[in-house]
Amino acid sequence: MDSTVPKRRDNKKSLRVKVISLGNAEVGKSCIIKRYCEKRFVPKYLATIGIDYGVTKVQVRDREIKVNIFDMAGHPFFYEVRNEFYKDSQGVLLVYDVGARDSFEALDSWLGEMKQETGSQANMESIVFVVCANKVDLTKRRVVDEGEGRLWAESRGFTYFETSAQSGEGINEMFQAFFSSITDMCENGGKRPVSEVSAGFTKEQADTIRRIRNSKDSWDMLGVKPGATREEVNKAYRKLAVMLHPDKCVAPGSEDAFKAVVNARTSLLKNIK
Ligand code: GTP
Ligand code: MG
Repeated sequence: MDSTVPKRRDNKKSLRVKVISLGNAEVGKSCIIKRYCEKRFVPKYLATIGIDYGVTKVQVRDREIKVNIFDMAGHPFFYEVRNEFYKDSQGVLLVYDVGARDSFEALDSWLGEMKQETGSQANMESIVFVVCANKVDLTKRRVVDEGEGRLWAESRGFTYFETSAQSGEGINEMFQAFFSSITDMCENGGKRPVSEVSAGFTKEQADTIRRIRNSKDSWDMLGVKPGATREEVNKAYRKLAVMLHPDKCVAPGSEDAFKAVVNARTSLLKNIK
């Protein structure tokens, strides 16, 4: 090390941070934390009662970080116990089970519960969110694919990780990125650094891809009324094609959405005179 460069004193100071885990019951929040802190996996389900608390020390660059982990119970029954622990968190692990669609769809309501408890929007800007698509080892029962999860996360400026508490896949990488982003945020005066990934695509693109994925038929996919004319179909198609073309759009799932739109237009035009 170059001894002529004086070390900044504040670099040596240790940081204390608070992180919480959120997500439906049984998605694997406690197991993810246990895998990281204790390097083991417990196959038996032991529901968290209200809240579990633990402390761990980690090293990020030249700083020691003391992490207070509040592992929340996902069951609605424990709302009254959970709600007072949201405040003053610097990091949130948002967890869902890739084999349970309802746990993925519940992520918005978890954010909603948190916003309600912490008050203003400004507070949410000073928190690092990481999304864990958990139980990826159970490939046969998977129903939420990577593109869908990544899109949800990255369109909100959150980092997305595929994890398995059972095999350990993604767990260390996820926690390292999580703690490193929290440290960056604290060194950045408490503001979450702008995510480079989310800057690559617009909310309109993300919303459109989501809408296309959930559309019930080709009319719905192009956003035209059943029975629309060739011109209307072509006009709607052109607008979507420009927005989603793989050369222009880097949002997760854009390639599949683009192909789906091309196919929808072809099948509709076949039947319109
Ligand atoms: P609550 O405390 O009730 O909110 O649940 P939780 O989200 O903490 O879930 P927990 O970690 O207790 O795990 C629930 C069940 O899923 C347990 O039976 C775990 O063994 C299992 N589980 C957790 N993570 C994984 C995983 O990555 N793969 C597999 N196959 N099972 C997992
Ligand atoms: Mg738990």
